[in-house]
Amino acid sequence: MLTRERLMEVLPELAQVENPQWREACAAIWQEAADASGWEDILDAPNAPDLPGDSLVSHTRSVLKGAFALADIVEAGRGIPVDRDKLRVICLLHDVCKAVELEPGEQGPRKSRLGQNFPHGFFSGYYCMKYGLPEDITAAVVAHSQFVKNTPSSIEGVLQFYADLADADAGRWAHGLPLLIQYCKI
Ligand SMILES: [Fe+2]
Repeated sequence: MLTRERLMEVLPELAQVENPQWREACAAIWQEAADASGWEDILDAPNAPDLPGDSLVSHTRSVLKGAFALADIVEAGRGIPVDRDKLRVICLLHDVCKAVELEPGEQGPRKSRLGQNFPHGFFSGYYCMKYGLPEDITAAVVAHSQFVKNTPSSIEGVLQFYADLADADAGRWAHGLPLLIQYCKI
């Protein structure tokens, strides 16, 4: 069972969520997903089954950093205001579904039954709704998935998407794996 203390230690950005209701929801969602997962420690949860050592927590933190850097650029360069707290929550929760979509297997991480029966992103959206997060946050979280045809309708969703793709494809490029950017090319 993932304690709140351990969660805040490995994902300290959860404490930076400014809206107290969203902050509690984010932590509770990570705890619920971690407890429903097959991983003994949340740091063992992988980001991708074909990328050994690529942790879900580390990817989540990188996406948050990347999205905030992009927010600085579009605000300064284009004068587009970005809601940082909304962006933070979208980044923190977009891939929490991977905790239950993947499970430990004999040959390493593999898709779980839930991961086979539901498209990537579904459970992140489900948790957002279950914990009463706003519709636009939930929509952006769901739209980040390459298996969902909706495109993000908020600037926060757009920035999360590109920060996510950049971090995921940097890891895949480094390991000579096919890039996820191919999903944007159809
Ligand atoms: Fe991601």
